[in-house]
Amino acid sequence: MLVGVEGLDDAGVYRLSEEAAIVQTVDFFTPIVNDPYWFGQIAAANAMSDIYAMGGTPKTAMNIVCFSPKKFGLEVMKEILKGGIEKIKEAKVVLLGGHSVEDEEIKYGLAVTGIIDPQKIIRNEGAQIGDLLVLTKPLGTGILSTGIKADLLTENEILSVSKAMAELNDKAQEAMITAGVHAATDVTGFGLVGHLKEMIKENLGVELYLDQIPVFDGVFELAKSGFIPGGLYRNRDYFKEHVLNFSKDRIICDIIFDPQTSGGLLFAIPEEKVDVLYEKAKALGIKTWIIGRFTEKNPGKILLL
Ligand code: CO
Ligand code: CO
Repeated sequence: MLVGVEGLDDAGVYRLSEEAAIVQTVDFFTPIVNDPYWFGQIAAANAMSDIYAMGGTPKTAMNIVCFSPKKFGLEVMKEILKGGIEKIKEAKVVLLGGHSVEDEEIKYGLAVTGIIDPQKIIRNEGAQIGDLLVLTKPLGTGILSTGIKADLLTENEILSVSKAMAELNDKAQEAMITAGVHAATDVTGFGLVGHLKEMIKENLGVELYLDQIPVFDGVFELAKSGFIPGGLYRNRDYFKEHVLNFSKDRIICDIIFDPQTSGGLLFAIPEEKVDVLYEKAKALGIKTWIIGRFTEKNPGKILLL
């Protein structure tokens, strides 16, 4: 075993030989959008993300389906699976099978196996003092899906956040590897702060540039009117003690705790590699935002600036 449960890394890694290791992960959840086809795409992209975060290449997948045909009709399940398969194909992954159970609450996701060079595993820790912190997707999907449930988003707003969540992190991975990444993770249920805490542990500090953090359209307005998911409060209660300069008057201070679905990669690169990152990201057609810097000061803490 090269990577197990102890370091809170995204996926597990098991060595097969000097040159080859397998990287494994599993993820599934309840619908966060109403359209079953988009839900399938998002769940599949989300499930493969941990492999990309660790620097692996996903190769095979198994469906995990919890569904009641009696309650929802088989057509809905077909649409979910169709969305999933589309993403699996896009990632050049092979679907080997799966398992379904009868469940009144829909859940879908994948168990994914990838390959990785044991010398090239990217962990959540390993950032160096002075490294820049980069994020590759805007924040706010938890708040937006609360808005979707309350029927407050337009079709266009739903479509644009669905597309972003369904986007694979394969290109983001390529960009970070090209730029010489020191550490990485993906932003999911624990929100930006929770996953950033995994990167610094008690060893490093990090400054977060609040005005540089990308946020989806409509998120500020929803948050201001109180459409905040329960998971955000739970993350805030749990991680707030590691945050310096928190201000309850600034909405962005809440958004950094928002639980994300299929969020972007969050990684550390040396400052001199920024140009390489930008160039690669541009060539791949993806966006990257520099949102902070790792510091020697305040070990274990996230300083909001
Ligand atoms: Co992860
Ligand atoms: Co995960």
